[in-house]
Amino acid sequence: MDLAPVLASAGVVAVATAADVPGENNYGSAVHDDPIFAAGLVEYAGAPLFAVAAATYGAARAAARRAKVDYEPLPAILDIRAALAANTTVLPTQRLVRGRPHEVLEQAPHRLKGTVRVGGQDHFYLEGQIAIALPQEDGGMLVHSSTQHPSEVQQIVAHALARRANQVTVQCRRMGGGFGGKETQPALIAAAAAVMAHKTGRPIKLRLDRDTDMVMTGKRHDFLADYDVGFDSSGRILALTVMLASRCGYSADLSGPVNDRAMMHLDNAYFLENVEIISHRCKTHTVSNTAFRGFGGPQGMVVIEQIVDSIARVLGMDPLVVRRRNFYGTHDRNVTHYGQVVEDNLVHLLVDRLAESAGYRERRKRIAEWNAAQPIVRRGIALTPVKFGISFTATMFNQAGALVHVYTDGTVLLNHGGTEMGQGLFTKVAQVVATEFGLPLAAIRVSATDTSKVPNTSATAASASSDLNGKAAQAAAQAIRGRLTQFVCEKFSVGEADVSFRDGLVFAGPQKLTFAELVGEAYRARVSLSSTGFYRTPKIEYDKNTLRGRPFFYFAYGAAVSEVAVDTLTGETQLLRVDILHDAGRSLNPAIDLGQVEGGFLQGVGWLTSEELWWNEQGELRTHAPSTYKIPTARDWPSHWSVELLEGRPNSEETIYRSKAVGEPPLMLAISTLMAIRDAIASCGSDRALPDLTAPATPEAVLRCLENVDAGTIVYRVAAVDAEADA
Ligand code: MTE
Ligand code: HPA
Ligand code: MOS
Repeated sequence: MDLAPVLASAGVVAVATAADVPGENNYGSAVHDDPIFAAGLVEYAGAPLFAVAAATYGAARAAARRAKVDYEPLPAILDIRAALAANTTVLPTQRLVRGRPHEVLEQAPHRLKGTVRVGGQDHFYLEGQIAIALPQEDGGMLVHSSTQHPSEVQQIVAHALARRANQVTVQCRRMGGGFGGKETQPALIAAAAAVMAHKTGRPIKLRLDRDTDMVMTGKRHDFLADYDVGFDSSGRILALTVMLASRCGYSADLSGPVNDRAMMHLDNAYFLENVEIISHRCKTHTVSNTAFRGFGGPQGMVVIEQIVDSIARVLGMDPLVVRRRNFYGTHDRNVTHYGQVVEDNLVHLLVDRLAESAGYRERRKRIAEWNAAQPIVRRGIALTPVKFGISFTATMFNQAGALVHVYTDGTVLLNHGGTEMGQGLFTKVAQVVATEFGLPLAAIRVSATDTSKVPNTSATAASASSDLNGKAAQAAAQAIRGRLTQFVCEKFSVGEADVSFRDGLVFAGPQKLTFAELVGEAYRARVSLSSTGFYRTPKIEYDKNTLRGRPFFYFAYGAAVSEVAVDTLTGETQLLRVDILHDAGRSLNPAIDLGQVEGGFLQGVGWLTSEELWWNEQGELRTHAPSTYKIPTARDWPSHWSVELLEGRPNSEETIYRSKAVGEPPLMLAISTLMAIRDAIASCGSDRALPDLTAPATPEAVLRCLENVDAGTIVYRVAAVDAEADA
């Protein structure tokens, strides 16, 4: 690398490379295999080589382009099939098996083999990756980071600078969206900024422009699955084997737990009595893929939904009938393939109610009539369920802390370990504290997330943050309220049962005073008005080596019906109508939760229909801006829609006010849209055609699929099946 022209460029203050990292040149979270600055070996097109500090953003970008870098091209593996052929993985292959899948497959009356392909996804957070590093006294470093995981950024910055954790403070006021893309990736940006701040002794702000952000940072894993399923004439799955492979990119990052979650959600809502899943974590010379809303779960669920859909088509049945036939039972057939009992199965209830309210049966008939009369624009409909496990699969992450201060004027400052990224967490946790003190929400102020206030936090991820931080904040508030109650009891000579906190007032038998008055008096009586709170999720235990146990505290459920139109001449699809019924337990905030359901659903629709990542033969990402990478917009929201939360079903587990996590599960409701497109395409082929539709179902993918269906070429091989005879 010749960086002299960079340094000589106008406005440039400094250049930093791997040689300038005083500590460890690495930001790997699980395995230390992610260099901050590539040194010698570049493993993907877009890997950071050096950083430039300049007086202005424009000057820095112009200077960076003047670097002279000589590369010696090495053989590259760019996709999953190539990685499988070369047998390269970032982590060892995992196998999860229950029952006798191979034996039962041999004896099954029907058998179907096929392949499911599902693409990746860029997070497209509206605010890109960004950090500011500010040198402090005595070798300290303060970092403002747009991160879902301040504690990890703290650790990695400390390692990079060869400092101790107590010398680095990381703050996050809020993110302009994260979606999983700011769980591990911000550490790179923060560490690079900190290295430069260390080198120059000056504050450094590092912001990636959109194209660089898309090229440089990890995305959702694309997956490939080869399956072999055995079933009976009623559509019940008897045995299933799946070779599940994902593109992890060049390093491990979170690919271990992402692929574990894919394996553990390959059942979705279905009981798989005899099943084998072999999960390959493929190494490719592309950007290292990472967390993205659903964390592997959506990819696993697309696989089983496509299998169930295909079984229905082979048998000439309504896919919903086959889905129902395979649902987990409420009393029997209720143990997952990893050994967790499905204790509060809401799938039957949700699907029955939604099928009814959405008029699924009648509409299916009407669509069949429409398709019989309309050669060009076909329609399709599908109802798919969601069952999603709530908790980090790594049990240790299921903990949280909070810090609550009450000031003498009766106002409250709340700090907790969770971060805000638009999902409404700060509002929800503030609501909890307001409720515990009987105060209006306006009396609670939430401070920025700060590693110096609540230490050793987990990522704000796995949808569990209101469960975790809500409970921790509740514990802190209850500790203070307990002391105040004690004080009131002594002051008014009443029992604890006579004290209550409501509407900004404190009642003690017949007496009452304002919360502010009480707090003022308690202060003068030297009562502590500050407390930490801590929470650990109960009941969970899980062995990540055997992939068995109870990884999840509970499941969140949902169901959706999508109706689509497909233009068979252009391949264009349109979502005409969606009906959603979603389970948020006793919702902490229905307005926020409905927003999460709508946003999650549409983000899923984007993943499965329009967002396409495309790399050229040199391994360069060519879809790195909104000109070529198409996220859904307001115009993609259907004109007819209904989104409702399931009423009257509080969480059967003791979560915060019996609510349920809602951040990720709704994304998977979008599988109904993909299946509806498949339904529309199937109507173009011969009876029982199996569309080989890949996701994302872009117009090109739809046209490719239509060609096969038109030609009567069924890409799936139907082995040992005599569907005609059965019918
Ligand atoms: N909603 C918005 N508006 N922005 C986001 O970045 N991230 C999603 C989800 N909803 C996200 C979002 C992801 S990936 C997760 S894990 C959860 O929010 C995290 O927050 P929670 O645990 O508070 O639900
Ligand atoms: N979900 C989301 N993020 C995570 C997880 C998980 O299960 N484990 C580690 N990071
Ligand atoms: Mo969400 S993918 O767990 O940040």
